[in-house]
This record gives sequence, C-alpha cells and structure tokens, in this order.
Amino acid sequence: MAIFSFLSPFYLAVLCVLIVIILQNMKKSEGKKEKGETKTESRPWVDEDLQDSTELLAEEDGTSPSGAHTEPWTFVVVEDPEVKHKIREIIEEEEEINYRKRMGDKWVNDLKRLKTNWVKEYLDTAPYLILIFKQVYGIISNTKKRTHYYNEISVSIACGILLAAIQNAGLVTVTTTPLNCGPRLRLLLERPVNEKLLMLLPVGYASKSATVPDLKRKQLEDIMVVV
Ligand SMILES: Cc1cc2nc3c(=O)[nH]c(=O)nc-3n(C[C@H](O)[C@H](O)[C@H](O)COP(=O)(O)O)c2cc1C
Repeated sequence: MAIFSFLSPFYLAVLCVLIVIILQNMKKSEGKKEKGETKTESRPWVDEDLQDSTELLAEEDGTSPSGAHTEPWTFVVVEDPEVKHKIREIIEEEEEINYRKRMGDKWVNDLKRLKTNWVKEYLDTAPYLILIFKQVYGIISNTKKRTHYYNEISVSIACGILLAAIQNAGLVTVTTTPLNCGPRLRLLLERPVNEKLLMLLPVGYASKSATVPDLKRKQLEDIMVVV
C-alpha cells in the first residue's frame, strides 16, 4: 500500500471501489462469453436448456393445418433416460428382425449407402425423443367416436413443420419411422387405442463428430412442372 501513500484516504477509498467495479464487470463479461460459446459450439446430445425449446416447437407445431380442423396429433416428448432406454430396447429388437427378415434384400441393399442398421445409440444419447402419434379417430365418449379426416396427411404436415422448426431452432434430428414398433411403443407410453405411431424424432445438438451423407438433390426442373 506504500505506493498509494500519496493519496488521501478519501481518494484511496474511491480507487478501491473503482477496482471492485472493474473486477465485477470482468467476471460478468467472462460469464457471458462462456454462455455465448456454448451456444455456437456444436455439442453432444446433452443439454438441459432444451425444455423451453421442445415446448416452443410443440406450440409451433400446433399451428399445423388439419382436415376439418380435427388436430389429430399427439406429441410425446420423452426425456426420462429409463423410458428412452426402454424405447431403444423395443426398437432395436424389432429393427433387427426388420433388417434380417422383414425388409428383404432389396430394401436392405438400398439403405447400405446410408449406413443404417438396427443399433440405435441415439435413442439413449439424444436429450429428447419426440414420438408423434396420429389419432386415427377422436374419442368423444365411451360410445362415440369423432371422424378424423385425412389424419395421416394432417399429422405428416405437422411433422414437416416440426422438422423445419427443429432446424430453425439450431437443433438437429433424423426422421425415423420405426417399423413394427408402434403397438409396443404405444403401450409403453400409455397412449390410447385410437393413437398410432407415425414418426419418432430424436432431438438435440449435433455432436462435433457428426457427419451427414453427401447426397445430391434433384434439380428444380426435375421436380417442378409449370403448365
Ligand atoms: C418418411 C421417412 C422415413 C424415414 N425413416 C427412417 C428410419 O426409420 N430410420 C432411419 O434411420 N432413417 C429414416 N429416414 C431418414 C432417411 O433415411 C434420411 O432422410 C436420408 O438419409 C437422407 O435423405 P434425404 O435428405 O433425402 O431425406 C426416414 C426419412 C423419411 C423422409
């Protein structure tokens, strides 16, 4: 403190307060930087802040159009690791039979370049699994059903909007349609009999080591016809 001996106690006090303020600001900006960094960094499929995102996505999806405004969809968002693991067990068991027996050589061969198989690690590691059920009819009472016109098309449109919303939110997913798993997953998730599984979307941030196949898209003139 000898170097400050030329300052009056008043100025020394002011100097101390200034140093404290500067140090506090430095700490704050370091914290902000850390926060900003994790936002831009691609991370493994683990993130606790995703809760808000999934609610936001579901809300956005609820704006999807539906035949006769029947809104024939249910989005089951699974975050419980135990339930996710049970889902994985069911899907891997059924998918192994799919790949080995049900799908046949041609289908399995067509998938080879995409390197998919029945091992689905992402069902454990993705922070959220969204299972989209189509309600093939509505239930008004024990004896009365409501017709859900075009329920599959309506829910498929909702899934498309959800895919776009996931991408817009900076998250990643893969469209999956677990073959022959619907009935067991419906029972596991305690969904009613009028609901059938349409799609399962694992949602999270891409891991740093994630790669995607370099697929070529059709040209506009090949997909659009102007009459
Ligand atoms: C209707 C549909 C069903 C799909 N089902 C599965 C699936 O069950 N499992 C899987 O790993 N990928 C599935 N995929 C992902 C496709 O294999 C993936 O979209 C493809 O690798 C990339 O080609 P694309 O960009 O043209 O879609 C599905 C995609 C669509 C659109």
